[in-house]
Amino acid sequence: MKRLLSFTLALSVLACAPKTAEGPAYLNPSAPLEQRVADALSRMTMEEKVALTHAQSKFSSAGVPRLGIPELWHTDGPHGIRPEVLWDDWDQAGWTNDSCTAFPALVNLAATWDRDLSRLYGDCIGQEARYRKKDILLGPGINMGRTPLNGRTFEYMGEDPFLAGELVVPYVQGVQSNGVAACVKHFAVNNQETRRTATNSVVDDRTLYEIYLPAFRKAVVEGGAWAIMGSYNLYNGQFNCHNKRLLCDILKGEWGFDGVVVSDWGGCRDDDEAVTNGLDIEMGTWTNGLRGAASDSYANYHLARPYLERLRDGRATEADLNDKASRILRTIFRTSMSKDPHFGSFTSPEHFAAARKIAADGLVLLRNDGTLPLALPEGGKLLVVGENAYKMMVVGGGSSNLKTKYEVTPLDALHEVFDTHAQVVWERGYVGDTTTVYNKVWTGQDLGESRSAQQLLADAVAASRDASCILYIGGLNKSKYQDNEGTDREDIVLPYGQDALIEALSATGKPLVVVNISGSPVAMPWAGKVNAIVQGWYGGSESGHALVDVLTGTVNPSGKLPFTMPVALSDGPLRSARQYPGIQEEGTEWWQEYYDEGVFIGYRWYDTQEIPVQFAFGHGLSYTTFEVSGASVKRSGDGWSVRATLTNTGKVPGAEVLQLYISDTEASVARPAKELKGFEKVYLQPGESRQVSFAIDREALSFFDAAAHRWVAEPGEFHALLGTSSADIRADVPFTL
Ligand code: BGC
Repeated sequence: MKRLLSFTLALSVLACAPKTAEGPAYLNPSAPLEQRVADALSRMTMEEKVALTHAQSKFSSAGVPRLGIPELWHTDGPHGIRPEVLWDDWDQAGWTNDSCTAFPALVNLAATWDRDLSRLYGDCIGQEARYRKKDILLGPGINMGRTPLNGRTFEYMGEDPFLAGELVVPYVQGVQSNGVAACVKHFAVNNQETRRTATNSVVDDRTLYEIYLPAFRKAVVEGGAWAIMGSYNLYNGQFNCHNKRLLCDILKGEWGFDGVVVSDWGGCRDDDEAVTNGLDIEMGTWTNGLRGAASDSYANYHLARPYLERLRDGRATEADLNDKASRILRTIFRTSMSKDPHFGSFTSPEHFAAARKIAADGLVLLRNDGTLPLALPEGGKLLVVGENAYKMMVVGGGSSNLKTKYEVTPLDALHEVFDTHAQVVWERGYVGDTTTVYNKVWTGQDLGESRSAQQLLADAVAASRDASCILYIGGLNKSKYQDNEGTDREDIVLPYGQDALIEALSATGKPLVVVNISGSPVAMPWAGKVNAIVQGWYGGSESGHALVDVLTGTVNPSGKLPFTMPVALSDGPLRSARQYPGIQEEGTEWWQEYYDEGVFIGYRWYDTQEIPVQFAFGHGLSYTTFEVSGASVKRSGDGWSVRATLTNTGKVPGAEVLQLYISDTEASVARPAKELKGFEKVYLQPGESRQVSFAIDREALSFFDAAAHRWVAEPGEFHALLGTSSADIRADVPFTL
């Protein structure tokens, strides 16, 4: 009887819907988007609308089969297209046509400080997603680096809202130019993995608006993002996947977001709030590890049966449902039913070339006494020490885990370059992570080891005796408590006894180059005792080639740190349990985490407190040298034009990132010593100069006045600081507002 009723209902909505000569408007690709949405909506039953709002499988949500409107396919992740998974499981399905191009981790992209490369990245990954018939790409992630311990630092774009904001816009636009929605995550104030589903972030409004929201705002307002993912944690005592203030007031209200809000997988926690507080698609409920459920429980999702019950008895309104359904239909018409057909492309040589370029341009030369670029004498021996020279790193780390067509390790690439005239010998040196399988994706490597830690160290030192040079390639990996989703790191000290190993290698007196592969800051107590240090990242399929390109000078390094490398964890701004990892107070159900440090995270903290760091935010050397000259600040319209000339004063072509920081010397609120407000990456031939100019407006001078709820620029003196890192300021030009 019920079925008959909804069938008759469906027929009647179909009958009264407008028809054009070409057929229904929603199927007409050249009809205006909003007309298509309204037309489709007018033909749908309540049940069909509700079906749109929740998952039907691990990574898909329903369309409207009766109307020929396809389902939405979601996919991780920010670094490549996740292999096809089973319908109701995280494990890969075992298809043989879904091995993707693995692009570098987003922290590596951030280290390029290059908007064009971010566009290229977005474009390529968007093509891969479209080819694989995915409509929503679950990325990029742009949470701020509040603590170096966050297990997902490698998936994000560093510690500065301006840098992340400038890079997220072209990424989003690149993805979406392929008819794939970028789902920017994890919104918001989600800065740790420890107890990520049970922690309430207590943040004041100034800090929220100055540090944690700007990159998201840019992604939405400038990038035009079509999707946003709510985060697992709470803010204001409410879960962020249905957080009224974040989603209704700020995202959809202040920023006018017209796309879909997708929950993180298992992040939706309440029947009523799911309906009323801005969530549009509920995904992955029962997968947060907190609550068990029978497999295939989709009908029991908060936005499934409980939602229908609320609609039927009047506790939920049709208007709210229409808003959700419209947003979802809009997403479908923007993606799989877009007016411009897109077909994408997959694992093309161009994609691997892009991955290699981005990986190489994000490598950061931290220190160099001239030992790099590496040149091995004919018949010389290069001793390579460290597990990360050999271990494949694309597999693992959580939801960003990928199955790639191939992965070039550093050792592979070193053999390719040096085997013709020299000897490359590898010693493992230490045992780190022997895992080679994740979600049933296997790297094919066997990382078993029978030697003891002492023996491994002794073997590495012994092998150095006749070496011309030692290249150490170690760091972190993607195992638990390292760069890994779901767990935070416990310290920034290198694991597996690597500090002692590096000290022992440095004591041999041989030239020693250290490559630290990690997605987050590590302490380097031996930094002064080695000849050169390169910060490497999880570089994806082409990581080995990219690294060796830089080590040999085929590519002149131009990456810059997107976060500070502190001397020790205890130097940082988070100094109490109430700040991190949070405390449980009487009478509160959730862990409370107080952002007492306010806006002072990363270099904003170290520079203001004058605490020395190992390597500053924005630092990165080159095989050439650059000079900054002729800095000036001039009024220009409502704002200012800041200019300086950059000259390549060395012998090889290279790129420098000129960075503009603004300093407010006197203000009615405590302000950071300086804040990044502009950067430009400039490629120059030896001897070449170029004038770089930055246009800044009053907002660049402002702080967020929480009481008045607006940005305020107070009259007085400011300084335009131009430099090549937050610590290496080459020109200081005062000006007044
Ligand atoms: C992660 C998201 C991811 C989702 C789907 C969650 O656990 O937090 O970033 O996109 O799973 O895999």
